[in-house]
Parts: sequence; C-alpha cells; structure tokens
Amino acid sequence: MNFSGAAIVAGVCGWPIKHSRSPRIHNFWLKKYGIDGVYVPFAISPDRAADAFRALPDLDIAGLNVTVPNKEEAFRAMHETDRWAQRLKAVNTIVVRDGVLFGTNTDAFGFLESLRRSRPGWRADKGPVVVLGAGGAARAIVAGLQDEGAPDIRIANRTAERAQALASEFGDPVRPVGWEDRADALDGSVLLVNTSSLGMEGQPPLDIALDALPVEAVVYDIVYVPLETPLLAAARARGNPAVDGLGMLLHQARPGFRDWFGTEPEVDEALRDHVLGTF
Ligand SMILES: NC(=O)c1ccc[n+]([C@@H]2O[C@H](COP(=O)([O-])OP(=O)(O)OC[C@H]3O[C@@H](n4cnc5c(N)ncnc54)[C@H](OP(=O)(O)O)[C@@H]3O)[C@@H](O)[C@H]2O)c1
Repeated sequence: MNFSGAAIVAGVCGWPIKHSRSPRIHNFWLKKYGIDGVYVPFAISPDRAADAFRALPDLDIAGLNVTVPNKEEAFRAMHETDRWAQRLKAVNTIVVRDGVLFGTNTDAFGFLESLRRSRPGWRADKGPVVVLGAGGAARAIVAGLQDEGAPDIRIANRTAERAQALASEFGDPVRPVGWEDRADALDGSVLLVNTSSLGMEGQPPLDIALDALPVEAVVYDIVYVPLETPLLAAARARGNPAVDGLGMLLHQARPGFRDWFGTEPEVDEALRDHVLGTF
C-alpha cells in the first residue's frame, strides 16, 4: 500500500509497448505473493518521455521499467543513478523514493544471474568470451562480463565502427574483431553470446561455423522469440551447453519488483511457463 491507501502502481514504458512481456511477469508475481498492486504498460513516445518521468511522483506511481527507445532519455531525466546506469548511460528501472527519481539498469544483472542459474559454477574469468553484436543489449552484457573478470572480450559486429566504439569506451580487455572473423574468434573461448537480432523471428538466422568453439563453452543466445534459435540448436547438437534468452528477461525484472512491491520475487519454472504462454 502507498500513502494514498490505494494499490501500488508500477509499469513499463516504451514505444511501441504492446509486445512487452513485462506485465505478464510482474502480474504473475503480484498474484503469487498476494500483493495489492498493479503493473501496466504505458505507450510513451520518446518526445514525451522526459515529461512523463517527471510526472511520476505526482501521479504516486512507485516506478517504471523503461524499454526501447526511452532508456537513454530516462538516464538523463533521473535525479539519482547507480553505477550500472552511469556505465551504460541507460536506465531500464526507475524507482520513485520520496519524490526523487532513482534510475538503475538491471540488464547486466539479468544476464549474469540467468547464466549462473543455468550453469552453476560457470566463471567469466576462466577464458576468452565472444560477443556478437554491439547494440544496447551488448553494452550491458559486455559491462557485466568485464565486471566479472573476463580476461579477453572479443566483440564482432556487422558494423565494425560500433564494435570499435564499444571497445574504446569500455577499454581493456574488450577488443573488436572483424565480423568476417567471428568463427575464428571462437578459438579457445569459454562463452559465445549472441546479442545481435539475428535468429529472432522475422530475421535471418545467425550464420556462424562453430568448429573452433571448445565443446565445453557455453552458448548463450539472448534472442527469446523463438526460444530455441538455430544457434542454440546447433550448439546442443555438438554437445555445447546452451542457454536461452528468457532467463535474462525474467531476472532483469527482479530488482524493480522488489523495490516497488517490497518482496524479492522468484524466477521458477511456473513463471517461465506463464510467460512462454504468450509466445
Ligand atoms: N533476453 C533479453 O532479456 C533481451 C534483452 C535485450 C534485447 N534482447 C534481444 O537482443 C537483440 C538485440 O537487442 P538490442 O536492444 O541490442 O538491439 P539493437 O541495439 O538494435 O542492436 C541490434 C544488433 O543486431 C545487429 N544486427 C541486426 N541485424 C543484423 C544483420 N542482418 N546482420 C548482422 N547483425 C545484425 C546490429 O548490428 P549493426 O550495429 O551492424 O546494426 C546490432 O549489433 C534483439 O533480438 C532483442 O530482442 C533480449
């Protein structure tokens, strides 16, 4: 309950927003934990986003998740941010505290948590990692892997300049490799992450030969529609452990729910099944 005595209100904003799975995640948890709250989608265009964020305290809204294309605008509109938001210059979770807008970014947490849960004992500091793509999701994942002590982070992106820019911004041990050299870059690595949209429904499959990838290396595809991408199927077929993108989506939602509704939520099979029901 908030100070008005009414149900706690939180939500997700983006443009468009109707495809967001976040309401399904949070409303599942609200029901599971018997919390008097609601979580709703808000379609907010980028030119209205800053005004919308500033209005949150007056509307008595506990906070918002922020998705494409409003994450950078959210970062600029916050009164306070944590080190993840500052590092990524993007906010995906806003918490309103005593009229103050606090912004964080939980994408790296979501990625690392899902990896740890799927592969207990996996450690980033064991060897080189290969990241395909250099967009918004790649930024969070590269930052997370760098934080976890990955000794060599190889980024391959179709547009070479974006991989170079990411490597320059994040510094050692992040380095760009040519998109045409992506298969060779797998040599000796302990993790391959696809953060490009290749393999997503409606997009071409990711074209990469896995021959150089050690068979113990984890293959993680953050694409979650479909859940089993051609990359994951190819990885499993040759014996590599494979991790799908749904875990990242579910785990990134946890900190916001905890801060708005006061309960640490659990990611379990029932939640996965519930969210998969929309695919
Ligand atoms: N599991 C999760 O929780 C989660 C979270 C965030 C995103 N995702 C998924 O991750 C993917 C990327 O999201 P994002 O926010 O990072 O998007 P983004 O910022 O638009 O980046 C897209 C990336 O895909 C690459 N790409 C697109 N089309 C390509 C093609 N035909 N050939 C080669 N590379 C191509 C882009 O390369 P260029 O730089 O050359 O354009 C860029 O690196 C999406 O499928 C999204 O649904 C999943």
